[in-house]
Amino acid sequence: MPNPSDSQRYLVCVAWPYASGDRHLGHVAGAYLPPDIFARYQRLRGNEVRMVSGSDTHGTPVTVAAAHEGVSNADIVAYYHARFVQAFKELGLSFDLFTHTDTENHWNVTHELFLNHLENGYLYRDTQSQPFCLIDQRFLADRYIEGICPVCGYPDARGDQCDNCGNIYDATELKSPRCKICGQSQIEVRETEHFFFDLGKTSPDLADWLNDGNKDHWRQAVFNYAKQQAESGELRGRAITRDIDWGISIPVEGYEDKVIYVWYDAVQGYLSATREVCALEGRPDAWKDWWLDPAVRSLYFIGKDNIPFHTIIWPAMLIADGRGLNLPYDVPANEYLNIEDKKISTSRRWSIDLPDFLSRYDPDPLRYALTINAPETRDVNFTWDEFVRRNNDELVATWGNLANRVLGFAYKRFDGRVPQPGEFDEIDRALLAESEAAFDRVGEELDAVRLKIALSKAMELAHSANRYLNEKAPWTQYKEDPAAAATTIYVALQVIDRLKVLLNPFLPFTSQQLHAYLGFDGDIFGDLYTEDVTDARGTRPVLRYDGANLQASWQPATLPPGQALRPPAPLFTKLDEEIVGEERERLRAKLSAAA
Ligand code: MF3
Ligand code: ZN
Repeated sequence: MPNPSDSQRYLVCVAWPYASGDRHLGHVAGAYLPPDIFARYQRLRGNEVRMVSGSDTHGTPVTVAAAHEGVSNADIVAYYHARFVQAFKELGLSFDLFTHTDTENHWNVTHELFLNHLENGYLYRDTQSQPFCLIDQRFLADRYIEGICPVCGYPDARGDQCDNCGNIYDATELKSPRCKICGQSQIEVRETEHFFFDLGKTSPDLADWLNDGNKDHWRQAVFNYAKQQAESGELRGRAITRDIDWGISIPVEGYEDKVIYVWYDAVQGYLSATREVCALEGRPDAWKDWWLDPAVRSLYFIGKDNIPFHTIIWPAMLIADGRGLNLPYDVPANEYLNIEDKKISTSRRWSIDLPDFLSRYDPDPLRYALTINAPETRDVNFTWDEFVRRNNDELVATWGNLANRVLGFAYKRFDGRVPQPGEFDEIDRALLAESEAAFDRVGEELDAVRLKIALSKAMELAHSANRYLNEKAPWTQYKEDPAAAATTIYVALQVIDRLKVLLNPFLPFTSQQLHAYLGFDGDIFGDLYTEDVTDARGTRPVLRYDGANLQASWQPATLPPGQALRPPAPLFTKLDEEIVGEERERLRAKLSAAA
């Protein structure tokens, strides 16, 4: 095992999903799966990891959805939070803690940061012009108003952010605004008083941070955006309170009928969830080790629409807090995933939701398909055709068959044990060397959060192993020279055992299965479980993970000859081509039901 004192600490921060609708495959590819792969890899490396997130329970996304469904805000939050916990568990996302933002701890953290910001002179009160609906007699914050995007002209832009171009702006800048509640345009601009966060005041510090010479590992598009913003001289104060009645209270007298803006509290979830997980682990003060020690690397896994909040606003809030809280080490934001050549749209119901997907298919094939074609540097397309092809040709034919035929042969011909090898020849040694080198080759990519290339490099080894077997043909060898066949099968098993580790971050379920077939008893998946947590605000299920006893590490192990194998079964199931048409039909039916 690696020396713990050499270990690096990683705080893996994952975007907080609004508790107002299921996550779809775009969210999974963009923000949820990548951090799990990264976290699982770092744990195998012997590094210390905490991966945190939770449901984003406040703001107009929740209230608009609750009104639409005709249920209370609290009910919609509880409903979707429970579904996130369930679906993320089924997908194997190893959250050390997946909590939510309506906890006592999160309220306290939010109040604390607010008061620090106020004290340090980063908050000010001002009046703001806000759209006010004359019919509904209320201010139209954020998602209560829609109109034409002032930046790109998209016709259905929301009050706080355009879904098309991702820009953020003030609701009064929308062109041809209409009220989301009554659908009318009887809107006038009225003055209302709010607290503002003085973003401009942080811009020199933001610029210093972005120019600190330690950003070479950032994705170009993310870095360029942040740097351009920080140096533009155009960062303005942003209102961080709202005229709605669903959210965290403002810890200042006279503001009882307003609440904190959802984005101001949600990003603080990274900090509050770290506190919560440390408290659950019985070390309430340990959060400081994660936030005040600059040696810790915090990475933020998000989709591209969240870039402004994670590269500018959250870092600015951390700076303004004044305690020296760690700024992001990296923000590996992803581009979008389209479905069958069309942009995902929840309102138009063009999407594949995660719970729905997992009700019909296994988690590892999805994890594979979304990673081998990850939207790391450009938008990508998910098609059912490609999903079936990758499952059948790559998982079943290349990797699954390799493992299955070697294990099956060993089980049958070598008495259910790892055979004793003879002397290795050049071909054996070449494959073994390749499998050894793969740990660095794949690891380097994983460290840099280039998950797509990391996975394809791991798969290259599976291809090499298949070529090796075809060349050696142990099935024929066995008839003439069983000892030679034993060597071949030993080498192949050894490489499969290594691939099991190399693929573990990507395919944790089947890798665990394979671990057992190879005759091991230990756990290489980790303990992923739900638990009810109660505080003064109520009881909620949370997702937790314990990887303390993982029986694997990121290094080439040697398989003990003679080890008893377990009877193998296929790791993957071939999918029928017919599902392509069925699934496309399902998508189309949903779309027309929504129209
Ligand atoms: N709830 C937001 C969304 O779904 C993401 C928030 S990420 C946060 O787009 F952590 F910054 F809050
Ligand atoms: Zn209205």
